[in-house]
Amino acid sequence: MTKVLVTYDMFREGFDELVEKYDVTFPGEKGFYYDEVLEMIPDYDVLCSMFDFPVNKELMDRAKNLKLVANYAVGFDNIDIPYAIKKGITVANTPNPVTAPTANLALALILDVARRVTECDRRLRKEGHMMAVGVLENLGVGVSGQILGIIGMGRIGRALAKRAKACGMEVIYHNRRQLDLETETRLGVEYIGLDDLLQKSDFVSINAPYTPETFHLIGEKAFSQMKSSAILINTARGPLVDEKALIKALKDGEIRGAGLDVFEFGDYPMPELLGMENVVLTPHIGTQTLQTRIEMARVVCNNVIGFLENDRPVSRVTPVYKW
Ligand code: GLV
Repeated sequence: MTKVLVTYDMFREGFDELVEKYDVTFPGEKGFYYDEVLEMIPDYDVLCSMFDFPVNKELMDRAKNLKLVANYAVGFDNIDIPYAIKKGITVANTPNPVTAPTANLALALILDVARRVTECDRRLRKEGHMMAVGVLENLGVGVSGQILGIIGMGRIGRALAKRAKACGMEVIYHNRRQLDLETETRLGVEYIGLDDLLQKSDFVSINAPYTPETFHLIGEKAFSQMKSSAILINTARGPLVDEKALIKALKDGEIRGAGLDVFEFGDYPMPELLGMENVVLTPHIGTQTLQTRIEMARVVCNNVIGFLENDRPVSRVTPVYKW
């Protein structure tokens, strides 16, 4: 019987059909550690991995029977794609259910940093009264009429553009290729070079994939180009931003603030960020809703069954793209 190994603990609703049809191994609450998976993998035909679980050469070399890696994420920077292709291993991801919740979080961070929601919440709790935030101080900025620069105009970038337009923002974007005119017109967005985007934007949102080309896409040079009133939002992957350079830019007033759902060094934001009032930090919660979690599991499940039985579409990951 086909054997499927799931590396993470997840609501089982989404996995019902998979469990009915195949021999599926789930971990306990903590998920399987890398070394445990390394030990088990030779027996398995399919690996269902989480976005932060490394599917590398070492693991794939031991995976004698492995035919499919079904990632629980839209991003797949945790997987050595060229090596998987070389080994004839298919990789699948979960783009659709991730799009709206991640765009919603990006918008939430834009509004939060701009209107200082979390900061005011902290002040009110600390002081215990409304005067903690005076009417003439701690002013936020509005978003209507402001320019949002979106870096990476895939599904999430486009979903964010729609939301931003609904808030009255102007949207410019940079992408590895320009959208067709019809899509640009429908979204009401304008393509622009990266340097110009950084110079013009009041808000910059990163919605690009993490590849070797996008590592530190936003670093010292980018911060020097941005407006001193600009707010940076990152809901994509941490290493797209040089976090040390970001901290310096925030301290020196090169930019106004930041909203971050991801961090350069994985689970740990650099300690200085934790003390900054003009920064909103969330622990990678772009898809953290019950419905999305279950829906992503369903898509993983459909990818596995579609791959094995050829009875439904599979969201296959295509080889590395250039930025
Ligand atoms: C989440 O980070 C994802 O890639 O889906």
